[in-house]
Amino acid sequence: MTMSSPMSPRPLKIVVLVSGRGTNLQAIIDAKSSQVICSQIQCVISNVKEALALQRAQEAKVPTKLIESHGKSRTEFFSNLHAELKALNPDLIVLAGFMKILSEDIIDSFYGKMINIHPSLLPAFPGLSAQKQALEAGVKITGCTVHFVDKGCDTGPIILQKAEPIYDHDTVESLSARLLQKEHTTLVETISLLERDMVVLQGNRTLLKKQL
Ligand code: GRF
Repeated sequence: MTMSSPMSPRPLKIVVLVSGRGTNLQAIIDAKSSQVICSQIQCVISNVKEALALQRAQEAKVPTKLIESHGKSRTEFFSNLHAELKALNPDLIVLAGFMKILSEDIIDSFYGKMINIHPSLLPAFPGLSAQKQALEAGVKITGCTVHFVDKGCDTGPIILQKAEPIYDHDTVESLSARLLQKEHTTLVETISLLERDMVVLQGNRTLLKKQL
């Protein structure tokens, strides 16, 4: 009998939900092509037709699906999205700039299999414009967080956080640009941990298994 080690990566079927420019999606695509991760992006789903993320996926020959939210009721949109996610049955759903708060039934169906990337050290500065919130609050250190998604807005068990200093000369643009780089590596690192089954979800915390 062979024992599986927490260190040996298992390719995950990933669905990425996007609404915009898709640099975090690009980081996953690039990590796969440079073999930093072994998971496969099964589908990129966008709720916005014009999202640059869709073009990035198409260029990388990753399947895409548009499920538009514009002009639809919340109930109709989320029931379409839920049906698609159930059909795809992914191992992992990554919210990468997906600008909708998911419905409770989607979260119930995929709790523990769905992660979000956010540009602050949560629980500080949830919601929109986290970088601007950090500058306005005058904090000297901010960062980014990858967490499991629960029913709150940018709440849920934290998996990884990386800190970034705020300098006196920083603007929203300069800080956002540095944080974005950090987001990309943190998101890829999280996927790598999940591939190696290193993340243990315990209530509202996660623990990282020790590397052997
Ligand atoms: C990122 O800052 C992410 O943390 C936030 O939305 C932004 C998406 O950027 N949730 P991109 O579309 O991945 O470039």
